[in-house]
Amino acid sequence: MTLLLWQDNFSVGIAEVDHEHRELIGLINALHAALGTERSGERVEAFLGEIYADISAHFALEERVMRERRYDALAEHKADHERLLDQLRDMMDAQADGAVLDDARFGGELAEWFTGHFRTHDARFHRSLAR
Ligand SMILES: [Fe+2]
Ligand SMILES: [Fe+2]
Repeated sequence: MTLLLWQDNFSVGIAEVDHEHRELIGLINALHAALGTERSGERVEAFLGEIYADISAHFALEERVMRERRYDALAEHKADHERLLDQLRDMMDAQADGAVLDDARFGGELAEWFTGHFRTHDARFHRSLAR
């Protein structure tokens, strides 16, 4: 099962940005496929750690461009990035405490977060770059 399918409501309406987001989702799905069903706590922790690293790298890139362009809504945008990273860290802590990863729930949470973030914060930022 694919963890996270691309949804039309992920689109920010700018082809290059959608392409980057598709790549990020592709990386997450590839890690999930590699995780498979033979799961130990350590493997799931490592899986979440790799997702965390990929998402952090995407955010760091956006934040760098925002700083370079002196983007006026950097603080709010960065706060929303931090919110997702906090949620992922909470999941990693829960995993370390023996929680079982629920794939459908995890995929749903990521989809919900991306839908909200891409279409608001990312769309606004990338529209400002295009001006
Ligand atoms: Fe983004
Ligand atoms: Fe963003």
